[in-house]
Amino acid sequence: MDIACVEKIDPKVARIIKDEEQRQENGLELIASENNASSAIMAVQGSVLTNKYAEGYPSKRYYGGCIHVDEVEELAMKRARKLFNAEYVNVQPHSGSSANMAVYFACLKPGDTVLAMSLSHGGHLTHGSNASFSGKLYNFVHYGLSPRTEMIDLNEVADLAKKHKPKIIVAGASAYSRIIDFKGFSKIAKKTGALFMVDMAHIAGLVAAKVHPSPVPFADFVTSTTHKTLRSARGGFIISTLEHSKKIAKQVFPGMQGGPLMHIIAAKALGFKQALSSSFVLYQKQVVKNAYVLAENLIKKGFRIVSGGTDNHLIVIDLSNQSISGKHAEEILEKAGITVNKNTIPNEKKGPDITSGIRVGTQLLTSRGMGEEEMIQISEFIYDVIDNPLNINSVHKKVMDLCERFPLYKK
Ligand SMILES: Cc1ncc(COP(=O)(O)O)c(C=O)c1O
Repeated sequence: MDIACVEKIDPKVARIIKDEEQRQENGLELIASENNASSAIMAVQGSVLTNKYAEGYPSKRYYGGCIHVDEVEELAMKRARKLFNAEYVNVQPHSGSSANMAVYFACLKPGDTVLAMSLSHGGHLTHGSNASFSGKLYNFVHYGLSPRTEMIDLNEVADLAKKHKPKIIVAGASAYSRIIDFKGFSKIAKKTGALFMVDMAHIAGLVAAKVHPSPVPFADFVTSTTHKTLRSARGGFIISTLEHSKKIAKQVFPGMQGGPLMHIIAAKALGFKQALSSSFVLYQKQVVKNAYVLAENLIKKGFRIVSGGTDNHLIVIDLSNQSISGKHAEEILEKAGITVNKNTIPNEKKGPDITSGIRVGTQLLTSRGMGEEEMIQISEFIYDVIDNPLNINSVHKKVMDLCERFPLYKK
């Protein structure tokens, strides 16, 4: 990134960006919700399109001068429709949370009941946490993971839907490593008269590449971020059937947002093009293969993996048998240049600030070009640091060597 012009005006901010660039370049980023946007995506995000106000939708704007941004928003919508085989796509939501908010606002009244996955079992804050607008405004009821399989149990979902008669059933998660049966969910929603919404923020890239079944044929609404496995701009989008498209459009603007971020929408258009390529499919296949190999090798080292493995890009590691909390593991791994996040495990005993687990994902390591061999090495790094913190320095050296071999951004 060329930050020479920033340096002249604001050396402090320039220095912070450089430090962060170094942190990302020299560390192994295993946070399951992050990725490294391509240089082209970052160039578009930093383009003159940031200057343009364009409240409204293509050909129906409240400002003049929208000829070019109209074209780019149409392009983003068209590519997203093609990528996900969707009837309608709204590319204006600023984030995954605002995409979820738009669907709730469009379909619910305060106090209405929604059925979603519990946060402590892998759901997201916007799926009804009391700390979020969702839990404050609506009556969320939660399903969890089966105590036996640690996977979603559709019988539990069906029982809860029958009992509570939710207006919306939400599928999708932030920390769930298994294939989600969207068809099974949609049958329950139909039977109980609920709308069906899927939040595919985490798995959008896998869905785009068809390495995870698509929710689009089964859901009334599919919400997503663009920056996780989809590896695109920072933002969100909403897919819906044509039947619901007008109310979604009205809810996003003017219901919730003002001017759309046209530089981000243009970068989303570019991201959808990247995701339509054959190399993106190979990339996603490798993401899943890498997660599988990492999980298998962590298991060999004695780690317990929630649900016993993974079908997607992420793994939840239960550290209860390692006499270390998720928080402490996150801290010592960071000292060795390995970034993860503490994560609750099913039936968490330590609470969300300490936790008994960590969550890791392979999408960014794979973006750097790493494969199965590197996953085996990384499982050893994680084991060595958690087994004995005295290994931090030696592991850190190995992490730096590995990062040098797989640069984040080629110079
Ligand atoms: C499943 C899910 N939905 C929504 C979001 C929210 O996305 P954002 O951070 O862009 O608001 C996240 C973010 O991690 C997520 O994991």
